[in-house]
Amino acid sequence: MTKISAAITAVGGYVPPDVLSNADLEKLVDTNDEWILSRTGIKERRILKGEGLATSDMAVEAVNELLRKRGITANDLEVIIFCTVTADKIFPSSACILADKIGAKNAFGYDLAAACSGFLFGLETATRFIESGRYKNVLVVGGDKMSSIIDYTDRNTCIIFGDGLGCVLIEPTEEENVGIIDSVLKIDGYGRNFLYQKAGGSQYPPTHESIDAREHFVYQDGKTVYKFAVTGMADVSAQIMERNHLTADDIAWLVPHQANLRIIDATAERMGLGKDKVMINIDHFGNTTNGTLPLLLWEWEKKLKKGDNLVLAAFGGGFTWGAIYIKWAYNS
Ligand code: UT7
Repeated sequence: MTKISAAITAVGGYVPPDVLSNADLEKLVDTNDEWILSRTGIKERRILKGEGLATSDMAVEAVNELLRKRGITANDLEVIIFCTVTADKIFPSSACILADKIGAKNAFGYDLAAACSGFLFGLETATRFIESGRYKNVLVVGGDKMSSIIDYTDRNTCIIFGDGLGCVLIEPTEEENVGIIDSVLKIDGYGRNFLYQKAGGSQYPPTHESIDAREHFVYQDGKTVYKFAVTGMADVSAQIMERNHLTADDIAWLVPHQANLRIIDATAERMGLGKDKVMINIDHFGNTTNGTLPLLLWEWEKKLKKGDNLVLAAFGGGFTWGAIYIKWAYNS
């Protein structure tokens, strides 16, 4: 029997129009453009503004673009995996809300929560669904309205995050050696005290006191997360190269999570890659959490050629981290 492989066959993306620059942040907290740029590489981020607008509203824009590009309708979708830490509501899932908003009547789906590595975990799940032969397409959505859980009085976090969302369609391919080829994925709950939201879940349901203490916002011990991220992301990226006998020359693009330019540089260095092979959007979008990797693919899609070797890598809250090796399946 021919082995069914899974490949990305279309990409969509959406970022809201409103820009939050470093100069804007200087008016909110004690920070400055020079510090932010030199420590993180960020110049500006996008913010979703508008009463009642949620992560699923960005998804509607991105998914409709993807469907148009692929020439299919929402009713053709079979599975929707919505990777996010800023679901519209705790329940129902944003996958359900998205399916209703785009009119996807034949899909099942659910949300997947793995912080900044969510899109990688979603890609892995979609790949196995396709390889099993059970489904003929899976939509993987990754995105966040981080501005809904960021404390704009906390300079440790508000300078980093932005809003945005991307999506990919995964379909079977019988072509030899094309598609989503290998993955190294990891979690370690030791990291749960260094990047998290204290209140709002079942452990500490919302109370007036928790709101007053600003415990529904993201807390990050940046130094500790940095220490684990810088080795974690580089380790899995090097591991996936070794396992697949890839040299730096074989790799067309590193597609790294964008938490900090210094973490990205360390990963590229460990892989022996020059800066010309590294996708970067942290300067103009900041850290969009689940949105980062699909947004990079969306921005770079036209430059990607069939057969290009891509390594996607991420590190995030949990801790969660991993790398996925893809041989790009189409020319735009
Ligand atoms: O995406 C999920 C995973 N997340 C990550 O991978 C993030 C990992 N962490 C980081 O990227 C970095 O730790 C940060 C960008 C969050 C912080 O950078 P840092 O180089 O670790 O800064 P720091 O927290 O060690 O602070 C250095 C100095 C401190 O001042 P002193 O004590 O040296 O006088 C801070 O008070 O910079 C100060 N500082 C700031 N100054 C201006 C901290 N934040 C700011 C700020 N503006 N926003």
